[in-house]
Amino acid sequence: MKASISSTSHYAPEKTLTNQDLEKIIDTTDEWIKTRTGIEKRHIIGENEATSDMATNIALDLLKKSKLDAKQIELIIVCTVTPDHFAPSTAALVQNNIGASKAWGYDLSAACTGFLYGLETGAKFIESGKYNNAMIIGLDSMSTIMDYQDRNVCVLFGDGGGGAILEKSNRYGIIDSLLRMDGSGGKFLIVPGGGSRMPTTSKTIENREHFLKQDGKTIFKFAVKGMADVSEEILRKNNLSGDDIDLFIPHQANKRIIDAAAKRCGISQDKVVININEYGNTTAGTIPIAINESVISGRLCRGDILLLAAFGAGFTWGSMIIRWGN
Ligand code: ACO
Repeated sequence: MKASISSTSHYAPEKTLTNQDLEKIIDTTDEWIKTRTGIEKRHIIGENEATSDMATNIALDLLKKSKLDAKQIELIIVCTVTPDHFAPSTAALVQNNIGASKAWGYDLSAACTGFLYGLETGAKFIESGKYNNAMIIGLDSMSTIMDYQDRNVCVLFGDGGGGAILEKSNRYGIIDSLLRMDGSGGKFLIVPGGGSRMPTTSKTIENREHFLKQDGKTIFKFAVKGMADVSEEILRKNNLSGDDIDLFIPHQANKRIIDAAAKRCGISQDKVVININEYGNTTAGTIPIAINESVISGRLCRGDILLLAAFGAGFTWGSMIIRWGN
């Protein structure tokens, strides 16, 4: 028995922030951003919008597309590094908003690899035989931790995400996964302030410690190697080659990272999903957005072999092979 994805959804806020908009607030150019990253715009949450609002939209759409009603949902996992609050969890807010009265759940923090960690975790609950379904939502409101004075970081990220319902299946579903973590990379991509290490004070705010900081060059190197290594390894382990993959959905951090990973795995460009131009990096949101867009466009069909790969803060990274359908 496998866990398979029975419905998918995604959500991106209406408001957008284009490269041209950024040119007006920081020393950058549309040309620089496009050629170095592939990003043209990002979606940004509205004034009264938070992560749980986007997640609730996604959850309601998942229910609409599935045969389940809210009271049948057993588990909700929200993968995010930008929860509404430290407590309560965003999963609890979603549970209440959709009326999933029999569900329990929690938030999962694994940055850009969040949705892969979430799918793996949800799948194991289902494969245990105790649970019939799990709602996995991956999303982030990255604009809430962006320093719009720091051009090294703020051009890269946007808000949004997506989700999936996992159910039992005999024929389809998650075939294999490889998940990794190396905390020695923690310092290279970090929000230093606001947690127990450096609680918020007027000083931390003055020093802009509540915003995401990164060493872009180091992350770039690790991301190319990490994503390519786990993708190659999972293919080898399952006796597959790049030619056997029908669709490759990599985390969308930088088009150059994606191209390098696809090349190393021998996956031709027409099989690689790239939507970074539209959304930027939505952290835990990139993979579920790309999955749902591929379902809607008909690029991802029943029986297809789908390869997912991600790399992010932690460092965390991983890959997953899914036979699509349920
Ligand atoms: N606009 C214009 N110039 C810029 C900008 C900007 N937004 N940002 C940096 N520059 C400048 C730099 O200051 C530097 O100038 P200098 O040579 O005078 O010092 C120059 O551009 C080149 O900078 P590099 O850092 O060498 O540019 P690079 O080609 O490495 O690209 C980038 C930088 C895009 C950040 C790249 O390193 C990258 O994508 N790294 C990965 C970061 C990432 O994806 N983080 C997200 C989370 S992790 C994940 O999701 C995988």
